[in-house]
Amino acid sequence: MDVATALDRLPKVELHCHIEGTMRPATVVELARKNGIALSTADPTELYRYSNLDTFLEIFWLVQSTLGSREDWARLAYESIVDGAAHGLVYRESFFTPARHLDAGQDLADIVAGLADGLAAAEGETGARAMLIADIDRAYGGAAGRQMVERLSELRQAGSPGVERVIGVGLDSTEIGVDPTDFADAFELAGKAGLHRTSHQGEETPPSYIRLGLDVLGSERIDHGLSSLQDPELTRRLAGERIPLTVCPNSNVVIANAVPRLELHPYPRMREAGLLATLNTDDPALTDMDLGREYRSCMEAFDYRWPDMVEIALDGVEATWLDDGGKRDLRARIERDAAALGQGLDRG
Ligand code: HPA
Ligand code: ZN
Repeated sequence: MDVATALDRLPKVELHCHIEGTMRPATVVELARKNGIALSTADPTELYRYSNLDTFLEIFWLVQSTLGSREDWARLAYESIVDGAAHGLVYRESFFTPARHLDAGQDLADIVAGLADGLAAAEGETGARAMLIADIDRAYGGAAGRQMVERLSELRQAGSPGVERVIGVGLDSTEIGVDPTDFADAFELAGKAGLHRTSHQGEETPPSYIRLGLDVLGSERIDHGLSSLQDPELTRRLAGERIPLTVCPNSNVVIANAVPRLELHPYPRMREAGLLATLNTDDPALTDMDLGREYRSCMEAFDYRWPDMVEIALDGVEATWLDDGGKRDLRARIERDAAALGQGLDRG
């Protein structure tokens, strides 16, 4: 077997993937038509070229705006896991960012129920498992973020359908010019409600934002954390405390344009510095990527060997919010399948 196929089949977890960013182009077209959203082209992939995070977000927001009902969210979630599982995904903690939809009058209860419906259907078909992280959209500000967390807490208390899937909150969208401390209230409330916390930091911003994500927002993980190495003391802390970074190397090239070529990405140096740097796709359908190719392209660009890739997959498990038993089971599965796949690899 060639290594590309083996990497595609290697069981993998993913902790940095926006469910809206997994929407199939055909689904974008169908939902846009159904919900009266104007697309300037019959082939949305023509729009998928970005010069920085904000130009990407304009397209991400357009794609998001096609989701109009519980059924739409269910379809998105179902297709997202089916497509991920086709490339070795076995467990995902997936972001969804409902600010735009809540602002337009959708109810968080319907969004969560729809997503949970779709995830359950896909789990039954693929055996992959998926949980959800409700992301606050920085562009909507701290008050909207707090309202979202309040509504989520209400739904948890009421045992609203599917709400048990939502295990944490996150923070995404535009970084530059937004003060992370605006979201301290929302994150504090999430912590009190027993939700995990993570936040996008350091995709386009310096290490000081990563520190704020940890110290002011109480983030247990940092999404991207691309600028970590610029601050040696922060790097020592992240490594020493095994604080996971959910790194998306291809996204950093294609979306943020923060790195000109994959070969120049700091990922290998991050790992050499002892960081728990996991591998993720971010928005695979909007960047022509999948998790198998994310692993393969990084293996080639960073001159990694098969055991390095297995170690990266196992680090993904450590970084999840699964309980110890869940982590042990997943680790055992990856080790078993990796050994079998490794045996069958083409040599030479
Ligand atoms: N960064 C911030 N917001 C996002 C991203 C990202 O990489 N993807 C989707 N929303
Ligand atoms: Zn992201």
